[in-house]
Amino acid sequence: MIVLGVESSCDETGLALYDTGRGLLSHALHSQVAMHEEYGGVVPELASRDHIRRAIPLLQQTLDGAGIAAADIDAIAYTQGPGLAGALLVGSSIACSLGLALDKPVLGVHHLEGHLLSPLLASDPPEFPFVALLVSGGHTQLMRVDGVGQYALLGETLDDAAGEAFDKSAKLLGLGYPGGPAISRLAEFGDPTAYKLPRPMLHSKDLNFSFSGLKTAVLTVVKKSGVANVCEQDKANIARGFVDAIVDVLVAKCVAALKQTGLKRLVIAGGVGANSQLRAALNAAAAKGPNHKRFRVYYPELEFCTDNGAMIAFAGAMRLSINPDAARRDYAFNV
Ligand code: KG4
Ligand code: ZN
Repeated sequence: MIVLGVESSCDETGLALYDTGRGLLSHALHSQVAMHEEYGGVVPELASRDHIRRAIPLLQQTLDGAGIAAADIDAIAYTQGPGLAGALLVGSSIACSLGLALDKPVLGVHHLEGHLLSPLLASDPPEFPFVALLVSGGHTQLMRVDGVGQYALLGETLDDAAGEAFDKSAKLLGLGYPGGPAISRLAEFGDPTAYKLPRPMLHSKDLNFSFSGLKTAVLTVVKKSGVANVCEQDKANIARGFVDAIVDVLVAKCVAALKQTGLKRLVIAGGVGANSQLRAALNAAAAKGPNHKRFRVYYPELEFCTDNGAMIAFAGAMRLSINPDAARRDYAFNV
């Protein structure tokens, strides 16, 4: 079965073809980052318009890459939500129109399920069950995953998402959009002892997170001198203080979730999963201590950490493998 995936929830247009027999056939992506950069964040109306411009050429590119014709597609999966309403409507309209034209069934996929299952696209995928840390621009969740569709929420952020904290703190440091990769790069040059920022909820007994206080701490430090007066080295020091704090909390909660569930496999998904400091700290924690305390960490391929069509095609294919009736031919535009 060949499933076409369509992702358009935010500022990336992603198309991909996944074959349940042969794996990922091809994928194509257009990022709108350069377009939104001058506004310091995603402008929803511009995002929707660009998805419309890009989707069909990307579809053609994906079909060419796989060496198949549109008629060879068996089903179409699109991101149903959550995301920007206008952007989602473009993806659903394209999926439903293609479905109607090709007489193929269409299936809406939850964006977070796409992220959650994306590490299974890697060459050495994890087996179920595992604990998943989902860290994106809009969500921060810890989940127990027993199989496709079998998800139990263990904890989540009570305010800002991890990616949001990265982006907002980067903005306070004048680093532009999206700030995650920029603040991470700058942190490499920072002195880890210069700023000890708070680690919110590090010692709370639950598996929830809170990051708005950390962002406020960055604001307080920046305000003291005014961002224009913060020298480059000091910016790097603040960036380092921020990254060390957020990474400490994320790692500690993952370790606690593994302890609580008794599981030994940890899967990281979502944009912040691309962060090099987080990966280094998780790998170190996984190899620390006696054997019974060790665990294994699985990451998606770097290109599938942030939004992409491959994870939607894959999640759709997994859903259809379990229930072939999950895709429908009523083509109701549903986001
Ligand atoms: O998963 P994603 O593409 O979109 C959502 O579904 O939200 O995640 C985007 C988020 C942004 O906040 C971005 O700054 C963050 O992931 N991000 C990073 C890195 N790469 C992307 N954060 C920290 N370090 C990175 N290397
Ligand atoms: Zn996402």
